[in-house]
Formats: sequence, C-alpha cells, structure tokens
Amino acid sequence: MFIYQDFCLKPFTTFGVAVEANRYVAITSVKDLQELYAEGELSKKPVMVLGGGSNILFTQHYEGFILACQILGKEILKETEDEIIIRVGGGEHWPSFVDEMVEKGYGGIENLSLIPGKVGAAPIQNIGAYGVEVKEVFENLDAFELKTGKTRKFNKSECEFGYRSSIFKTTEKGKFFITHVTFRLSKKPKLNLSYAPLKEAFAGRSVDDIFIKEVSEAVIQIRNSKLPDPEKLKNAGSFFKNPVVSEKKVDELKYLNPDMPVYPQPGGQAKLAAGWLIEQCGWKGKRKGDAGVHEKQALVIVNYGNATGKEILALANDIQKSVQQQFGIKLEPEVNII
Ligand code: EPU
Repeated sequence: MFIYQDFCLKPFTTFGVAVEANRYVAITSVKDLQELYAEGELSKKPVMVLGGGSNILFTQHYEGFILACQILGKEILKETEDEIIIRVGGGEHWPSFVDEMVEKGYGGIENLSLIPGKVGAAPIQNIGAYGVEVKEVFENLDAFELKTGKTRKFNKSECEFGYRSSIFKTTEKGKFFITHVTFRLSKKPKLNLSYAPLKEAFAGRSVDDIFIKEVSEAVIQIRNSKLPDPEKLKNAGSFFKNPVVSEKKVDELKYLNPDMPVYPQPGGQAKLAAGWLIEQCGWKGKRKGDAGVHEKQALVIVNYGNATGKEILALANDIQKSVQQQFGIKLEPEVNII
C-alpha cells in the first residue's frame, strides 16, 4: 500500500476538475483497511471513500485522506435452477459487471447497463434507470466501519433504500467503506420494459421472445443518444434529483403547463422531471465558460475542458434559482458536492 501526498484527482472523477487530495491510497483488500486502522491512519480526519468518482464534484482541494476502492473479485455463493447469488468486490467496474452478467444470461440488472461507476457505490445512491433500481436485486453488503475498524453486514432493509438514496447517504454518511456487494440475479429474468422508450423499442414483440442482451443493447442505445459519455465529455450524469411534490402542487403546475411530465408516486405525491423544468427555464445547451448544460439532456451539467468545481457549482446554483423562481420548486443535487 502506497500513500500518495498531494495527489491530483483530475483523472479520478468523471467531472475531471483539477483538485488535489492531501493524501490518497488505493485499497485492494479488507486487510489494507485493517492495516490502516491499526496504524491509526483512519482516525486522522477527514477520511473519504472514493469509488469511480462518477457522482462527485470537488469544489476545492481535499484536505484529508482519500481511500479509493479497488477491491476486485466475483464469487457465486449459491446457484439454483432459477437464480444465482453473487458477491462482488466494491472496486469492480459496474458497466463491465453488468455486461458479464448479461452475457451469461443472469437477469435483473440489464436496465442498469452503462451506468458509470463502481459496484461498491451502486447501493449508496440506489442507482436506477429505465424503471429499475439496484435495490431490486440487492441481497446484502459488507462494509468496514472507519471509526471502529469492524466489518459489518447490511441487509436490504437495513440499507433503507429510497429514490437515489440509502442509509449511506443519510445517517451513516461517510462512516463506512463498502467492500463487497451481494446480488440475487435471475436465470429466468422478468423483463421491465415499462419505460416508454424501451416499450417503443420492443413494440410488437412478445415479451417471452426478448433476450436480456437485447434489453441491455437497447438501454445502451438510449443512454448514448441522450447522455454524454464521460470519456469524451466530462460530467456526472444527472446533477439534480427529480423533485417529488404534492398532488396540490402538481395540479397548480399542470394547469399552467399541460405538457409537463408527471410520474405519480405511492402516497399521492408525484415525481416531476427536473430536466424538463430546467429546459423550460431556457438552460438546455447554455454555457458559462467551460461549464455548460448538456444540449440533449438538461439535467446533466458538463465540463467542456477546464471548468473548476466552483464554476460548475455556480452554474448549478443559477439553475436552481431559475427553477425556484419559475416553478416554486427547490431542486436538490444528486451529485455529492465537496
Ligand atoms: N426532459 C425534457 N428535457 C430535458 C430532459 C428531460 O423535457 O432536457 C423530459 C423528457 O422528455 C421526459 C422526462 O423529462 O419526458 C424524463 O426524462 P428522461 O427519461 O431522460 O429521464 P430523467 O428523469 O431526466 C432519470 C434519471 C436518469 C436515468 C433516466 C432513465 C434521475 C435524477 N435521473 O432521468 O439517471 O438514466 O431517468 O431512467 O432520476 C443519473 O442518475 O445520473 C441518471 C442519468
């Protein structure tokens, strides 16, 4: 284990902003964490766990210790005629893991193809796309508590999954390093084609004749047509969450904006499309220096080259203000801002 000093994080986040971390170490096993703990390194605050860096915006240098998750490996714990239970290292690349499972015919995560990031980060914000969230295939996870040096298992209910949320974004934020995640995947997959563009892609086909590989390919095609590839244009996916509002608020807004997309939620509330709200405020394709709003998806803020974290945040704040003024809705960031 080598601890780097004043380590440049630019290549390690998908926003590609040039900041440095005071100290940085790549973690490849639980033993590495135990060693750091025994040496007292984890009690020198602050400490932060970094996965694929695909959901984070650094607005300043990080005066602390970054633990980058590079724990690899996949182990099938149980296999029956219908399903497999597989335990995966937190440092595995999420899209490659999905591809491999899809190739083998293990279903449940095909709608989550091409989401950037690492396996260990997937449960933290309960990644989701095209009608599926990772909680649906989640079995449990192993985590290392930074303060006590103890390992602990969290089952599904203990993770308190919600829309782009879990206990690791709320009460337990920053306290654990997720080392492994265990998933339950199906050998007899039930496809979810409820998302309109997927429904359209498979219109006229019987659901029994569609392979998960085809669903994965369709998802990849939809993502590529709307979302920028972070390898080519720096971004962190949706910058804001879709806001959940009351039925009364929906009625008010729908009266003035009959075309507004609305997704009813259990309990009478409804989710609105933040991208639509932002586009209505005129932000789509707008640019301020090297920070801009993506031209095909207004929910995504992009770095055209040398934008600083502060410039990206300033743009996000301006967008928030516009949406608040025009619609009376406060957008909440989905990206972690440091
Ligand atoms: N829309 C606009 N203008 C825009 C963007 C969207 O009018 O610039 C409208 C669309 O036409 C559509 C609605 O808003 O009617 C929803 O758009 P879309 O289907 O693209 O999905 P989204 O709500 O913007 C969410 C997730 C994405 C995920 C897609 C597909 C959040 C915050 N975002 O986006 O997740 O890929 O649904 O399931 O929930 C991410 O989390 O980083 C992410 C990309």
